[in-house]
Amino acid sequence: MIPKLILSLLIITCVSCEKFRFDNYTLYKILPKDLNEIKVLQNLYDSDTRFDFWRDPVPNAEYVTVVSAPKYKGELEGLLNRSGIAFEVAMQNIQNAIDKERVGQYNRNNIWSMRWDRYYDLSAINAWLDDLARQFPSLVTIVSAGTSYEGRDIKGVKISHGEGRRIIFIESGIHSREWITPSTVCYAISQLLTSTDPETMAAARDFDWYIFPVTNPDGYVWTHTEFRLWRKNRRPYGSEFGVDLNRNWNSNWLVRGSSTNPSSINYAGPGPFSEPETKHLADYLRPLADRIELYLSMHSSGQLLLIPFGNTTEPLANYHDALNIGRRAMGALSVRYGTPYTTGNVAEAIYYATGITVDWVKEHLHVPLVYIYELRDRGTYGHLLPPDQILPTAEETMDSFLDLIHQARRFGYMNSGNSLSVSLGMKIILGITVLQRFL
Ligand SMILES: *[C@@H]1O[C@H](CO)[C@@H](O)[C@H](O)[C@H]1NC(C)=O
Ligand SMILES: *[C@@H]1O[C@H](CO)[C@@H](O)[C@H](O)[C@H]1NC(C)=O
Ligand SMILES: *[C@@H]1O[C@H](CO)[C@@H](O)[C@H](O)[C@H]1NC(C)=O
Ligand SMILES: [Zn+2]
Repeated sequence: MIPKLILSLLIITCVSCEKFRFDNYTLYKILPKDLNEIKVLQNLYDSDTRFDFWRDPVPNAEYVTVVSAPKYKGELEGLLNRSGIAFEVAMQNIQNAIDKERVGQYNRNNIWSMRWDRYYDLSAINAWLDDLARQFPSLVTIVSAGTSYEGRDIKGVKISHGEGRRIIFIESGIHSREWITPSTVCYAISQLLTSTDPETMAAARDFDWYIFPVTNPDGYVWTHTEFRLWRKNRRPYGSEFGVDLNRNWNSNWLVRGSSTNPSSINYAGPGPFSEPETKHLADYLRPLADRIELYLSMHSSGQLLLIPFGNTTEPLANYHDALNIGRRAMGALSVRYGTPYTTGNVAEAIYYATGITVDWVKEHLHVPLVYIYELRDRGTYGHLLPPDQILPTAEETMDSFLDLIHQARRFGYMNSGNSLSVSLGMKIILGITVLQRFL
């Protein structure tokens, strides 16, 4: 009798903890034609947490994307119809796209078993990083930016060809559902270690690369095991869970574009740096600050390159240089597959948002060049990018990393330290190699 009861309780528990399904959840691509229509959408965005906006209704938005559960679709379409707002159904049933997102198996001790047409869970990514450190002991050091709320390691790698180089710091996966970001930076790690392309090899040699594929490990695990569209961390607040870690930094905290409501996807937390993930990452960054030349914060989607600040459209700090460097690098990004990116400051290109990582990095650490990437795509699949787009996204993004360095140098950045002499030496060696081929 008792064992049966326990058994049935176990079954009930397991049913309730089963992975959430998004059957017949629909992704809408809304095409507002003027500010009045945007205002209708903003009102919905502000007042109704039932709808999950993937691209927010901001002034000048070319499009807005939003996911609705089946039972609210009539209400949403009704509102749009009554307001005369044009929309398309981008995906009738997003569960289909989730089912197509193949999650790969990583074979321990075989770094080549990580593929670029699969997504990977946290344990696979971390195991791969550990294996890289074993395979390339003189280049790769495992680094940790502390632990998450649930006690997971915020693991990264440092790739260095010698002490004292200037730093390129890449943070990704802080929004856990943006799966394309860890994949893209893992590809960058693999290129920095194994590519035979001279420009990639020079970039690997000239800088210390600190790369953290998953800075919100609890959220990332949750997207794999329970709820694919989870964005925040997993700390409980009342009966709700999670703080938006890209609103929790101590820079104009809670000033704009974030929420005091724990059920909101933009919940800023009870105070700046209230969350272990942001606090520990900030603590990790501070001692490195003087050496960081370039800081990249990886997000998706929308195909945007954004510069600080999120609180104002005013061109603060080295706005013009950052914009020019960024625009050129996005030109380089588009060469391979024609993917267009828009470059601008956060507030002008997407929305007013504060407490964001890049603003804190710019304001408090004074890093010369700071960018947010919003990777592919533009309203077709959003956070559910098909796995056959992982490699093209990663390749074009890597192209742009290299061009960011190239353009930055043309504008007088990223030349300090011993990087110049190293790259010059590298060029001489390459020049000799090329000459030898002709002789
Ligand atoms: C999804 O919608 C289709 C068509 O309306 C319906 O046949 C199907 O039962 C729905 N699936 C679920 C799981 O609700
Ligand atoms: C809204 O308009 C579209 C296109 O005319 C139509 O297919 C849909 O049924 C309408 N929905 C509601 C709830 O009125
Ligand atoms: C925006 O934030 C920056 C950095 O904190 C500050 O210097 C600037 O005055 C702020 N601008 C506005 C309009 O609030
Ligand atoms: Zn994001």
